[in-house]
This record gives sequence, structure tokens and C-alpha cells, in this order.
Amino acid sequence: MGTGEGGGQRAGSESTPVTREIAADGPCVTVRVPAKVNLFLAVRGVRDDGYHELVTVMQTVSLYDRLRVAVVGPPGQGHHPASRRRMGVELWKDAIDGLPGGERNLAVQAALALGEAAGVLDVSAVRDAAARSGARTVIDLDKGIPIAGGMAGGSADAAAALTALNRLWGCELSKDDLREVGAGLGSDVPFCVVGGTALGTGRGSAIAQVLCRGTFHWVVCQAEEPLSTADVYGSWDEHCKPSEIEPDAVLHALRTEDAVALGAALHNDLEAAAFALRPELEDHKKALLDAGAVGAVLSGSGPTLLALTEDEPSARALAERVADQFRAVTVARSPAGGPEVVSC
Ligand code: C5P
Repeated sequence: MGTGEGGGQRAGSESTPVTREIAADGPCVTVRVPAKVNLFLAVRGVRDDGYHELVTVMQTVSLYDRLRVAVVGPPGQGHHPASRRRMGVELWKDAIDGLPGGERNLAVQAALALGEAAGVLDVSAVRDAAARSGARTVIDLDKGIPIAGGMAGGSADAAAALTALNRLWGCELSKDDLREVGAGLGSDVPFCVVGGTALGTGRGSAIAQVLCRGTFHWVVCQAEEPLSTADVYGSWDEHCKPSEIEPDAVLHALRTEDAVALGAALHNDLEAAAFALRPELEDHKKALLDAGAVGAVLSGSGPTLLALTEDEPSARALAERVADQFRAVTVARSPAGGPEVVSC
């Protein structure tokens, strides 16, 4: 089995044997990776490459995916460099609606991109069933970040795969190198490799860490139906104009640990575009403000909505008040660090 569409996937009911096989076979690495929120997102216009030029302030938030990688296969093969260059790369995952399988999954793409950049994999052999060796790198994924929710779940998984495989394969690439590999996978991946709080420009991939004091408390409100990022940017093209708004108020609120000021400064130019596709989201945002949030904003390209509160008890109380309006509500805090190697 290899990286092709559906290749190497196991049904959710088979995840227990998968876990046993990884544990029995040798070294593995587990990485926990947080979701991302945009506290500020301004769209300056369309670039020559078709992407949109952004100024954005991103922060990690305490919803996590766990990604586990291991080399498995016939004894000895997994660790011999020659066979390792031709090993398969497989995604083992629970069957969850909407999670891309095989090489459509960003974690698998990240594995191939890292393997190529670090000279660990002969990617054309990896993709060729006849040329592959018996060894396989397997990727197991446990999702806590909403899928297609505007919280960079796929990008977080790519960042986790880069972090975990850099360790497992002994690539010794620096964080900067991983960010560069990540930029080829998706606009949010470089931020997800580092985490914390950052100002993003360009496609959102050019990032610089910014100061954030304290902890902020959120209610993360998931909508019933996912939204495609490309569709939301398409809607921006149709309905919106470039904006000149600057992130100064958000950056000041982060420096001064001021939740009320941050609530007032939250801004996302993609809201109008997402609301044009899903008018009910605008009503839901108003409802969050009416229910006592100090601020509310669409997360990235949506459809997840974020409600900011002054402290954790207020977040819990707000979550209870609005729970029946959403598919799921979760209390979370930010910032939430970056990808972290937790164990095998
Ligand atoms: O970079 P990524 O693959 O995550 O982007 C997904 C889609 O979002 C792109 O295909 C593009 O349509 C849109 N996008 C954009 N401008 C950005 C980031 C994303 O137009 N800065």
C-alpha cells in the first residue's frame, strides 16, 4: 500500500490493531499540535499568483490534533537507509467525514515534501507500488480540531507531520527549514510549524512572532456545515473590496493583556464573504455578542465563530448559554504554544 487515493487507509474500527502494530514495531513519535485563530485578517487585494495579499494576526488556541508516526514493516527493513528511501507512506486514520484520504491529506503531502527536501525519500519510488520496499512510514491521526472549520486543522496536521518525521527520520532540519517546506504545502503551515502569536503577511506565510501577554478565553462555536476556503475567497472576489485597516489595536491589546480591548479590535475581512455564502453566520455572531461575549469574529475563512470572554468562568457560562445554537461549542484558551513532541 502506498500514498495513492485511499491507499493505506484503515476503517475506524481497525484503529486498535494499528496502534498495536506501531507500538510493537519500534520507534515512533507523537506530536500534539494546536489549532489556529486569526485575531485580525485584512485582505489587501488579489496577487499575481491568484492568492490574496493578507495582513493577519494569528494565534494558536487550545484545540489539538495528535499525530503519531512510526516506521513499520519486516524486521530490519525499516531502518536500512536503502530500503528506507523507497518505503511507502500511509495514512492510518479513524474514518471521519470530510477528512481527505491518501495523498490528498496534507499530513501525507508533508511527509513526502520533507522526505524529498531532506533526501530521506526517493518520492517517485515511494509512489510506485513496484519500486516500493517492504518498509512503511505510517501516520495515525486523532482529530480534535474541527475539519474544514477555518481553524487550520489540515495545516496543523502538516506541521505536526513535519515536526514528528523530522525527529523520527533524523532529518535534523531547522524550524526555518520546516517553515520553508511548509510554505509549499499551504499558506497556514509555516505559522502552524512555529505556533504562538504571529503577524502574517503575503499569502499569510511570511510570519514574524509578536508579543502577547497573558491568556485569552474563548468559546469556539462550530457550525453544522463546513465551508471551503477557496469558495470564501471566491466570494470575497465577488462581494468585497481591498481594505486598508491596520492591526495596531489588536497588537496593543495583546501586549497589554486587555481582553475587552481585544474583543473590540477583532477583525476579519473574510466575514462579509462568508456571510454572503451563509447568512445565518451573521445572526449567530450577533447572538454571541448579545449573550455577553466581549467580542466575536469568524475564524479564518469560517464557518467556526469565536467568542471572546474576560475570563474562563465567563467562557463556560457563555458556552452553556449558546450551546443549542451550534453543532458543538468548546471552551479554549490562547495562545497555545506550537507543535509539541509528547511521546510515542
Ligand atoms: O494556501 P492554501 O492551500 O491553504 O489555500 C487554500 C485556498 O485559499 C487557495 O486555493 C486559495 O483559493 C485561497 N487563498 C487565497 N489567498 C490566501 C490564502 C488562501 O486566495 N492568502
